[in-house]
Amino acid sequence: MASNNSLTVVFFYYFLPQDMKMTKPEFDDFKLHIYRGYVQNNYILEYDNGLLLIDGASRPDVKGIEDFVVKKLNRKIEDIKLIAVTHCHPDHAGAVNILRSRHGIPVAAPHDIDSWYSGFGGAIQHVADTLQSRFMAVKLKAKHRFLYYSRKVKPDFKLFNGSELPVFSDWRSLHAPGHTLHNMLLYNGKNRIIYVADTVIEHRGKYLPPVPVLFPCCMKKTLLMVKELQPEYILLAHGHEGLMKYNDAMIDEVIRVIEKGVPRYARFFYLISKFSGEYRRNRHELCEDIPVESSYNNS
Ligand SMILES: [Fe+2]
Repeated sequence: MASNNSLTVVFFYYFLPQDMKMTKPEFDDFKLHIYRGYVQNNYILEYDNGLLLIDGASRPDVKGIEDFVVKKLNRKIEDIKLIAVTHCHPDHAGAVNILRSRHGIPVAAPHDIDSWYSGFGGAIQHVADTLQSRFMAVKLKAKHRFLYYSRKVKPDFKLFNGSELPVFSDWRSLHAPGHTLHNMLLYNGKNRIIYVADTVIEHRGKYLPPVPVLFPCCMKKTLLMVKELQPEYILLAHGHEGLMKYNDAMIDEVIRVIEKGVPRYARFFYLISKFSGEYRRNRHELCEDIPVESSYNNS
């Protein structure tokens, strides 16, 4: 008998627009595997010369990722040649330090990722974000697991806007501020596929921004950048489908929600998302010189 979860997936898939339903595509150079993590999706890309793990998962995913690689892919865990991390949150960087120390896997991450949780305010923010991840796990009815992780990623490879990923040079990191200041997206131009991390969230067929969007103007600019790239496929960190056909309507929907302002249910999480010194130092000046609003309205 199908579980409640499978029935829910089938239900929402049935109501997806026709152009978003698809058979699993084949990509040049790699095979794409989706790992359903604790509260997020991760992607393991299988190349001839090794595996690329897209995003650093949650702490409870360490064992699951090890099992997935060894038992499902029939590969050695050391075949993971790189973990590409997009930002410092518990569901994107929580497993990184354990995987690196156990298996010597190098980590590529935004060059300034460790600034967000630095100092006293950063330490409080780290705890607050970990609690927020706990709340998300409760909402998703995930089992209670220990989520706390080291707040410093200490990347072996520092990513800037446009950096090629080490080993997997067909992927580039794109600076994508909005959710935090340092967020990156990962884009493969050859296959026109983009991993958007938390920039677009899919929930019950709707496309939403993450909680919080601390820099709304930057976030809209980031979303318009995705629209300009016109990828063919989009990989979501949060959503039933994970891999989807890209559609401009997704981006427009997220921007519309951002423009409505912070929803009542999310206000508490915005309140506890403003301890980082990086946020307090940059919250005003960043929004002023980015004329995103007008370019969106004219499009
Ligand atoms: Fe996040």
